Amino acid sequence: MRAFVLPSYGSPDVLELTDVPTPVPGDSQVLVRVRATSVNPYDWHHMRGEPYAARLGGGLGRRAPKLSILGADVAGVVEAAGKDVTAFRPGDEVYALVEQGGFAEYVCVEESVLAPKPKNLSFEQAAAVPLAGGTALLAVRDAGRVLPGHKVLVNGASGGVGTFAVQLARAMGAEVTGVCGPRNVDLVRSIGADDVIDYTTRDFTRTGRRYDVVLGIAGTRTLPSCRRVLTPRGAYVIIGGAGGRWLQPMGYMFSSLATGAFMSQRVAMVDVVGCTHTKENLMTLSEFVEDGRVTPVVDRRYPFEEIPEAVRYVEKGHAPGKVVVTI
Ligand SMILES: NC(=O)c1ccc[n+]([C@@H]2O[C@H](COP(=O)([O-])OP(=O)(O)OC[C@H]3O[C@@H](n4cnc5c(N)ncnc54)[C@H](OP(=O)(O)O)[C@@H]3O)[C@@H](O)[C@H]2O)c1
Repeated sequence: MRAFVLPSYGSPDVLELTDVPTPVPGDSQVLVRVRATSVNPYDWHHMRGEPYAARLGGGLGRRAPKLSILGADVAGVVEAAGKDVTAFRPGDEVYALVEQGGFAEYVCVEESVLAPKPKNLSFEQAAAVPLAGGTALLAVRDAGRVLPGHKVLVNGASGGVGTFAVQLARAMGAEVTGVCGPRNVDLVRSIGADDVIDYTTRDFTRTGRRYDVVLGIAGTRTLPSCRRVLTPRGAYVIIGGAGGRWLQPMGYMFSSLATGAFMSQRVAMVDVVGCTHTKENLMTLSEFVEDGRVTPVVDRRYPFEEIPEAVRYVEKGHAPGKVVVTI
């Protein structure tokens, strides 16, 4: 099969399109013919081996990439199933969040993490959902514990995670304020935000408004400054932040968690890759998608051969919505 392998750390130029053996599914696995994948910051962190601090912590390989084929989002068709697989048959349309392997024509996926593709989505739209939508679900429902009537602020509302978070918070009955750049104000309003703050003209920590939940996707403001806009029983959810060579966004995330231990308000961190309920999360996201309360926002579509270009674009950090790849 054709796959983009990652032989060493570096820029998107290190991604190498080559022929590798098609994987053989184990007894509990399904072989999926990948029809679409999407690009996430997760991919370029693993591609560049940054932040370096994550190499020491074991999240990234110390000297060489931990992952050989990037791509955490997969939407495709079941090609074959191991002997213990009961829920899927060849021909089924599926989607999944995988640790690696989406930048290839085939990938083996454990049955336990695979879900039927939402009926109303194309493969490209479905591939936009698992990692970003899963992160948003964990942030809004679990870490944020958003309830009807809550006022929720989403910092980083226009990106992959943010466009799902705005829609999910709204679907759960919250009043949503989105923070984004000037180009994306209309987009964030169109997906359901009640109010939109352009971060180039207004500082959301200085508007005088209070929120029950602040979702820190862009991670551009310190926790003490975000605390100013939280209600006394509010919650700050740590999701991400701008990348850096040595420490970021890990430094921002863990220092916020440490600071939160001394605050009266709740501070919680999201880790979608470490989450053990990915299939249940996908089933929940499918419900939101199939009844029309959530629609993936797809910014650009790239052909398989242009995966390095897709990664280069996502790395810039300003894609409005998701960047998907047709395979
Ligand atoms: N904890 C987890 O499990 C988890 C899972 C997935 C992702 N993440 C992290 O979450 C972050 C976002 O991921 P993503 O997939 O949504 O990335 P993305 O698609 O690249 O989106 C980033 C967004 O950040 C916005 N942004 C940039 N500067 C900003 C600023 N100064 N103020 C407010 N917003 C700003 C951009 O909006 P404009 O274009 O409008 O400027 C862009 O839409 C990354 O750090 C990623 O590593 C964490």
